[in-house]
Amino acid sequence: MFNLFALSFLGLFPSQHVLQAPDVKVPVTLGVMSRCPDALLCENLFDTVLKKVSDKIDFRLVYIAQVNSSEPEFGATCLHGPEECAGNVHQLCAAEYTPLDNWWEFVNCNNYQGRNKACLSYTLPWTYIDFRQQIGLPETAKQCAHIAQIDWETSGVGECAGLDGSGRGTEGVNLLHKSILLGKTMGLEKSCTIMINSEPVCIHDGTWKACENGHRASDFIRQINAAYEQLNNQ
Ligand SMILES: *[C@@H]1O[C@H](CO)[C@@H](O)[C@H](O)[C@H]1NC(C)=O
Repeated sequence: MFNLFALSFLGLFPSQHVLQAPDVKVPVTLGVMSRCPDALLCENLFDTVLKKVSDKIDFRLVYIAQVNSSEPEFGATCLHGPEECAGNVHQLCAAEYTPLDNWWEFVNCNNYQGRNKACLSYTLPWTYIDFRQQIGLPETAKQCAHIAQIDWETSGVGECAGLDGSGRGTEGVNLLHKSILLGKTMGLEKSCTIMINSEPVCIHDGTWKACENGHRASDFIRQINAAYEQLNNQ
């Protein structure tokens, strides 16, 4: 039998790879709609959460909508209109082809139009309203790709979403349908629903609902750390 320890002494395998099993990440999902004010609020809050625990989680956004073959553009009905379906596709394609840092910056840029978020307070709901109307537009997708250091043409994101920025690329529309169906199997109905380790832990739907263990960033960080320790038997 190969002696992996000997190989690691020889420097062929770094010893940490031999000795340490990879850790188990906590699945964390936000059920969202790209133009929904509740989603923007949750995403803003999770910007703080990700800064603390991004290395401990498998993070994704799942898009709530209805698959609908009568819809000519997206084969889906999105609550805030076809522009929202396009915005969902832009974000899904960014997540598919770029690392978390880039696609998360892309989502934040969608939400804030590249303005300095630090100047905005998420305690003022009206601040979302102006920016929301730009989500899903081709200019927004291309401008935000640039801001998030994603090359629209060569990264795969543009081809996925449609190089024209329409959000109607075949692959992107397929990703949208998959995401909607995944949301159904997860029982996601309200934007925004926060799921940690496959359990719904909090909803913001106009106001906070069903948040037994709190709704501040620190509450989510605490729950994620606890789930991570449990999953990794620490
Ligand atoms: C499906 O799309 C059609 C055409 O836009 C629309 O009239 C209908 O309400 C949609 N159905 C659902 C369930 O959203």
